[in-house]
Amino acid sequence: MKKVLVIHYSQSGQLTEIVNNIALPISEGETVVDYYKIELEKEFPFPWNKPDFFDVFPESFLQKPRVLKPLPTEIINKKYDLIILGYQVWYLSPSIPINSLLKSPEAKLLFKNTPVVTVIGCRNMWIMAQEKVKRLLNNCEANLVGNIALVDRHINHISVITIVQWMFTGVKKKYLGIFPKPGVSQKDINESGKFGGVIVESLFKSDYNELQDNLLKINAVKIKPFLVLVDKRANVLFGKWAMFISKKGGAGSEKRQVWLKLFNFYLLFAIWIIAPIVFILFLLTYIPFMGSIKKDKKYYSSIELK
Ligand SMILES: Cc1cc2nc3c(=O)[nH]c(=O)nc-3n(C[C@H](O)[C@H](O)[C@H](O)COP(=O)(O)O)c2cc1C
Repeated sequence: MKKVLVIHYSQSGQLTEIVNNIALPISEGETVVDYYKIELEKEFPFPWNKPDFFDVFPESFLQKPRVLKPLPTEIINKKYDLIILGYQVWYLSPSIPINSLLKSPEAKLLFKNTPVVTVIGCRNMWIMAQEKVKRLLNNCEANLVGNIALVDRHINHISVITIVQWMFTGVKKKYLGIFPKPGVSQKDINESGKFGGVIVESLFKSDYNELQDNLLKINAVKIKPFLVLVDKRANVLFGKWAMFISKKGGAGSEKRQVWLKLFNFYLLFAIWIIAPIVFILFLLTYIPFMGSIKKDKKYYSSIELK
């Protein structure tokens, strides 16, 4: 009997639906599947309001953990054959509940020497967050064996408009009746069970060597080189902003509100003015950079850690 843990965090329930669908074929075999949804001592708001949404930026980016509700001892004390870890991206980093889990002493027990499949449900910018998660898992001596990233497939700017509406209203609907629905499409969510079918084969063979290649064959990950470029550059700039703002005061502090407002304006400027210019430059320089783009695509589709 194989023992599997499905552990995740979700505010809207989108990621809950995804991980549950992935786990379905796994739970139909000779397996015991435990499910756990991470909870914080003090929950983040959902829907978000603007000040709270920006106030989580410095600590999200700097991966500062918060206090979680303790994990049930029956979960910590079990040795799992596989852990499916579902996470969302906040400000190009694993969300605070997820970094809080992975930095906890309990995670060191839970994840040690255990195969892990990461499942991401986000807007579209997850590449550098996954690099951070790879490192956090490494620190827990976990064995990353697979990654699935489900994203909003609409063009970047459309997904920015629609996710803001979703996050600030809490309702996943067509904004103004004309924009597409935000987030991961219901079709992709409904079809995510196919990944579970592939995972279960590796689970029963106790051999994960080909798992990521098999997941890639069914489109578990799609790398968009332009988004990789933006993600990398934005990480450098976010790092400076996050350090600067966090020095003005801790989470919720009045003293940093003015700087968070400035960051909000900067973000709008970066998305609507800088990103389109970078996109043109990206297209103009595509041919000379083709070699490194190809290398990046291969690496970021993989579970390797450089
Ligand atoms: C504060 C905040 C920051 C976010 N930053 C990003 C981001 O950098 N990249 C991205 O692809 N999605 C980002 N998202 C979207 C989330 O990854 C996720 O898709 C959304 O919050 C729904 O997840 P849920 O399952 O928790 O409801 C952000 C969401 C929030 C609330």
